[in-house]
Amino acid sequence: MSNKRNVAIVGVGLIGRAWAAIFARAGWSVRLTDSHAPTLGAAPGLIYDELRALNRHGLADDPEGAMSRISVASGLADALKDAEFVQENGPEKVEDKIALFAELDRLAAPDTLLVSSTSAIVASRFTESLTGRARCLVGHPVNPPHLVPLVELCGAPWTSQEAISRARRIYHAIGQVPVTVNKEINGFVLNRLQGALLAEAFRLVGEGYMSAEDLDHTVKDGLGLRWSFLGPFETIELNAPGGIPDYCARYTGFYKELAAESAGPEVYNSPNVDRVIAAWPHQPTPKRIGGLTSQRNERLAALVAHKTKQIN
Ligand SMILES: NC(=O)c1ccc[n+]([C@@H]2O[C@H](COP(=O)([O-])OP(=O)(O)OC[C@H]3O[C@@H](n4cnc5c(N)ncnc54)[C@H](O)[C@@H]3O)[C@@H](O)[C@H]2O)c1
Repeated sequence: MSNKRNVAIVGVGLIGRAWAAIFARAGWSVRLTDSHAPTLGAAPGLIYDELRALNRHGLADDPEGAMSRISVASGLADALKDAEFVQENGPEKVEDKIALFAELDRLAAPDTLLVSSTSAIVASRFTESLTGRARCLVGHPVNPPHLVPLVELCGAPWTSQEAISRARRIYHAIGQVPVTVNKEINGFVLNRLQGALLAEAFRLVGEGYMSAEDLDHTVKDGLGLRWSFLGPFETIELNAPGGIPDYCARYTGFYKELAAESAGPEVYNSPNVDRVIAAWPHQPTPKRIGGLTSQRNERLAALVAHKTKQIN
């Protein structure tokens, strides 16, 4: 293996392109591969656009330098040559992950880490039969990963601690915020938390307790303001003079009542889901979705730049 740090980005759709920008920005040499030639051909230009957008917010020093470290491989074997880390971003289907990981395990050097971006497929479902299964794990990013740094690491029962620690160090070194899910669970942690909130939002709007727009205000102008720099435990530590034990003594009786009546899966069925859709006063036109996505990315970049300044 050469002294350069090499990563292979396998699948360069939305998520793969973001990983390419992140690794290249951090000084790694990045090899791109994708089974769809037009997607692969378009990837460098789109990655450059993202790097320049990051640069405008002070989040990437040298987009041209980063681009000089990115190259298109002639295939999977070529992409894996000398790679110490593989970030897999293929389709979210277990049969695709099984086929891809079999190829990755066959072609990669034995100590190369094989990491999947999968949102919801635990690693034990696509790595069990592999010779090198101890070096396989999930590194689940949040969209868009170049602006939201969290990565959830989760191994299968046979993933080595060494592989998880090494992946954690690498993600930290490239500017992401890795967290470890200690054992496999459906949805990992981020989507379980998001799912708890979403189910309650569907119930409250579907049953007419609040308008959809006011519910969004409750998060973005209420809970979410604190959540951009405090987690739920840090939040409750400050919500009672004696910290978390005091908070538990004062408020868990009330939260027990709420937990006993929490929203169930029926909130996503008709008629509740129809009422939620009807409650949203906008049509999802491509113009609206495109415009709001750009605005989201600009505002996220400004927020990340602000948070970065506070930490440094
Ligand atoms: N989009 C999100 O919000 C999000 C967030 C977190 C994680 N993820 C996960 O990231 C992964 C990729 O998602 P995406 O949104 O980038 O999807 P995408 O459809 O944009 O990209 C998938 C890419 O994989 C390519 N591909 C298919 N088969 C391949 C193969 N055998 N070898 C190489 N490339 C192949 C496709 O051509 C495509 O370019 C999924 O597992 C998804 O669950 C997505």
